[in-house]
Amino acid sequence: MAETRDADEIFKEFKEHSIAEFFKKNRQMLGYSGMVRSLVTVVHEYVTNNLDACEEANILPNIEVRIKETGENKYSVYVADNGPGIPKKYIGKALGTVLAGTKFHRYMQQRGQQGIGGSGCTLFALTTTGKPIWIKSSTGSSKTYTCRLSMDLVKNAPIIDEYRETDENFKGLVVEGEFAEVKYENSDHGVYEYLRRTALANPHAQIKLIGPDGRENVFIRAVMQMPPRPKPAKPHPLGLSVNDLLDFARVSDSRKISSFLVDTFARLTSNKVDELKTLCKDVDFDKKPGALSWSDSETLVKAIKQIKWIAPDSSSIVPIGEEQIKTAIKNILNPEFMNVVERKPAILRGGIPFIVEAAVAYGGNAGYSSEQGSSGAILRFANRAPLLFDAGNCAITEAVKSIDWKRYNIDMENQPVSVFVNVSSVYVPYAGVGKEAIAKEEEVIQEIKLAVQEAARGVQGFIRGKQHVSFEANRYKTTMRYAKQLAKDLSEITGDKEEDIHQNIEKLILKHYPHFKKSMEEGEGTGEENTSSEQEGER
Ligand SMILES: Nc1ncnc2c1ncn2[C@@H]1O[C@H](COP(=O)(O)OP(=O)(O)O)[C@@H](O)[C@H]1O
Ligand SMILES: [Mg+2]
Repeated sequence: MAETRDADEIFKEFKEHSIAEFFKKNRQMLGYSGMVRSLVTVVHEYVTNNLDACEEANILPNIEVRIKETGENKYSVYVADNGPGIPKKYIGKALGTVLAGTKFHRYMQQRGQQGIGGSGCTLFALTTTGKPIWIKSSTGSSKTYTCRLSMDLVKNAPIIDEYRETDENFKGLVVEGEFAEVKYENSDHGVYEYLRRTALANPHAQIKLIGPDGRENVFIRAVMQMPPRPKPAKPHPLGLSVNDLLDFARVSDSRKISSFLVDTFARLTSNKVDELKTLCKDVDFDKKPGALSWSDSETLVKAIKQIKWIAPDSSSIVPIGEEQIKTAIKNILNPEFMNVVERKPAILRGGIPFIVEAAVAYGGNAGYSSEQGSSGAILRFANRAPLLFDAGNCAITEAVKSIDWKRYNIDMENQPVSVFVNVSSVYVPYAGVGKEAIAKEEEVIQEIKLAVQEAARGVQGFIRGKQHVSFEANRYKTTMRYAKQLAKDLSEITGDKEEDIHQNIEKLILKHYPHFKKSMEEGEGTGEENTSSEQEGER
């Protein structure tokens, strides 16, 4: 039998771990699972930072991503933007400390929030190749500096070296790192598709990708206006969990719990505090917010649910916009027809406003097309960021699949259709830490379904027309095939010229199919090609 060990012995091994070490061991929580996905995660983190930073500085983003293969399952990733840059003093903390950033504790619709993305990439580079990240930054008014950034994982602190300043005329941020255990794939889950969809949901951005094959792809800026800047919004009491309330209390500067509630939350007036007081006799509303206990918070959250509230204000949500989506879809999918719908704000759990936008596009580069035929595609977005993974767990997939597409004359299995859905909210209810799917909450699914159905209704007429035309074209072609034989037979019987008879029969047939007349005269054959142009355009 093995020797017994007492607690003193065992606890000699007791150690604390830093948050950086935690994420090093649990990197799947940051999206680093699977080689293809890990590379997309790196690009996603840098590109969302580019977009956030440019938006904040009110600059139309120019983003360049370069990816080179440097070994087996090893790639260097270079991402540059024309944003505000990061001041020298903050560079280490921004990209070399986990849980540090400028977007913390802001209740605002931005892509980043936790301060994990950039430093997560640094950590991922260090743990897979052992190589630090290279950074170049300039805020425009300062010199351009370059440096190398590594991390002390135990202290969760940045290590900067190779620092250099130059007079290079540059403004923005460039980050370059080498990552292993990653793979570039030209698939629906790859970097190219990620950036294509990013461009689709961010038509104000110009995005260039130079892939490992050296080919340059540019998604051209399609709209010249910046999206409206999201406003910070106070959270609505009905959206709060016990833990959320404690988190807000911990960082509050208010003197008392009563003033903390009024200062922090929307629709929470002093009258409402009085109502809460009568429902929460055990809670001392005069103590400091920092002294709020778990059971206080539990009592408050329960009481909040019993009170009547005015619905939250949704002006803090910034959807992409109907016109912007149309322009973007035209630019990237160039469909024969599309319909875009923006729903009015809806409310989740009584306290979280969200807006769903949906589009259905048909033809052109919509859907998937190959030699085997066409099929439909679902393009999922949350706050303009493409969701490429975990489709099965997502409210968008669920909503789209639950629709009876036949009713809209759409065949998702066999037609070139793209269904686009963007859910915008300050608090998108993600299905997991990886933020790759939207939780299947009934209210969200319903709202997405209504949006997509409405969008589908708009393309229904077009598709029906198209189906009718192709049915007619087939009948026309078949009838025409008989004309030749008939003319020959009639000529034998009557002795008239076969040519003349044939021409007369053709004229007769064309009377019944006036659609195809023009193309016949132009010598184009069946006339099928012509049919779509009559109904082309958007609604
Ligand atoms: N391209 C960039 N331009 C300017 N600032 C940036 C850029 N990328 C990152 N930052 C700064 O670094 C911080 C940390 O980034 P990150 O770790 O991705 O966290 P988050 O995006 O959640 O704030 C950001 O909050 C921002 O202040
Ligand atoms: Mg970020």
